[in-house]
Amino acid sequence: MSQLFVTRRYRFCAAHRLHTDLLSPEENWAAFGKCNNANGHGHNYVVLVTICAGTGESTSSLDSLDRLVTDTIIERFDHQDLNSDPAFSALTTTGENLVMVIWDILNPLLPPGRLRKIGVIETRDNYFEYTGAI
Ligand code: NI
Repeated sequence: MSQLFVTRRYRFCAAHRLHTDLLSPEENWAAFGKCNNANGHGHNYVVLVTICAGTGESTSSLDSLDRLVTDTIIERFDHQDLNSDPAFSALTTTGENLVMVIWDILNPLLPPGRLRKIGVIETRDNYFEYTGAI
């Protein structure tokens, strides 16, 4: 059976600091280096949302996806400190965790099986993607 996928690109800017209270200051520095800097730093995140689309997919369904992602992801994270978000109260704000957090926010709000992949570009060289639990 053939399948068609559509990916939409979104952006938000946010600050974060890689740090865990489970480690000592020295261990945090060893693990995260300058990303553990106490004052944090920012990224221009790119979020790629891939959905399974029907061949008769209409533009209006992408409009509704845009609204959903804007309301639940962009409005929530843009120009915020990720470390202050409740989703990261017990998680380090790594790209790995961020991509899974975004999946966990969006997946329950979409019809079953519709969301296929989340990608997060954090830096020029760091890209994370998650396809959920299979
Ligand atoms: Ni960073």
